[in-house]
Amino acid sequence: MKTIQFQGRELSAIALGTTAFGKRYSADQAAEAIEFVRSQGVNVIDTARVYGFDAPDGGFGYSESMIGRYLAGRSDRESIFLVTKGAHPPMEDRAFNRLTEKDLRFDLEQSLRNLKTDYVDLYFLHRDNPQMDMAEVMGTLHDFVKKGYVRAIGASNWRFARIMEANKYAAEHGLTPFTAFQIEWSMAKYDESENPGDKTQFAMKPEEIPLYRESGLLVMCYTSQASGLFSKIMAAGPTAAAGYDALKASGGLKKYQDPDNRRRAIAVEQLCAKYKVSPAAIGVAYLTGMGPSVMPILGSSGIAQLADSLSAPDLQLTEEDYSLIEGR
Ligand SMILES: NC(=O)c1ccc[n+]([C@@H]2O[C@H](COP(=O)([O-])OP(=O)(O)OC[C@H]3O[C@@H](n4cnc5c(N)ncnc54)[C@H](OP(=O)(O)O)[C@@H]3O)[C@@H](O)[C@H]2O)c1
Repeated sequence: MKTIQFQGRELSAIALGTTAFGKRYSADQAAEAIEFVRSQGVNVIDTARVYGFDAPDGGFGYSESMIGRYLAGRSDRESIFLVTKGAHPPMEDRAFNRLTEKDLRFDLEQSLRNLKTDYVDLYFLHRDNPQMDMAEVMGTLHDFVKKGYVRAIGASNWRFARIMEANKYAAEHGLTPFTAFQIEWSMAKYDESENPGDKTQFAMKPEEIPLYRESGLLVMCYTSQASGLFSKIMAAGPTAAAGYDALKASGGLKKYQDPDNRRRAIAVEQLCAKYKVSPAAIGVAYLTGMGPSVMPILGSSGIAQLADSLSAPDLQLTEEDYSLIEGR
């Protein structure tokens, strides 16, 4: 599998996502999923303190605890690059500012306890908040790094300009900068500003892509399979066009109603035939080919989907393939 160099570590170019741990995976199945992806060369696991909040019998820390159960007593913790996130606003009030020293310390402490480890490799702020105090947040994160609780810091759902603002502040004050970024990004056309959902979640904007490429930041992409959009389109009809129309009629397109996704699905169908791979494999290649530090995080509702998404991890799309997908 392709790798990404990050602060002296060699990371797999694909990460395991874990929002489904506790919802679609029992603790045993979660351990099996981790073992499976590791056998395929994946060494990055992405979680967050809030994951599991919507699981039956779950709650905050549920996903992390399943990973902690897997890690407990293992001697190979160092071979896993463990990513978690904190300071998520309350679910019922996403505008509420939890980017405070008190909340950051509380969340990290809980995460370390859940994960049964004394450090995380990469710690993300899960959301931005314009009311946050830059000195308080960057100072607290720097303290986490200095104390060894966290080896690198990242910003999730921040706009590029905000990350640059924070890193300028860090450089001027001798503090640790953000070296990673996490955002929604997939092969589907999607503009979060046109969707009513959670206003604290951001999707990649085409004009930001070159900025990230130049920045050298590690870019982790969530909802990287567009919730399985292209796989579901292909499964819904004999052709991509028919599948798109059938999925649209059944309400299955959800937030991906953009008509360009019908054209993209037809392009994906052609690329699946060209490379003899699945739509999910094309979706992974679309992102890993976007730059040397772009890492899709795989969501799934079972190991068969993970196996499918990981079935051609080194596939490289050509410029013509990108033009076909994006309609350039
Ligand atoms: N930083 C953030 O704010 C943030 C937000 C969201 C997620 N994340 C992270 O990113 C990870 C991935 O996000 P996500 O779960 O939204 O991603 P995703 O990969 O787009 O979506 C997962 C869903 O897509 C479908 N799917 C995935 N692979 C498939 C395949 N090969 N064939 C058919 N369907 C497939 C499944 O849908 P069905 O369940 O319908 O089968 C699965 O539940 C999460 O687990 C989490 O670690 C971070």
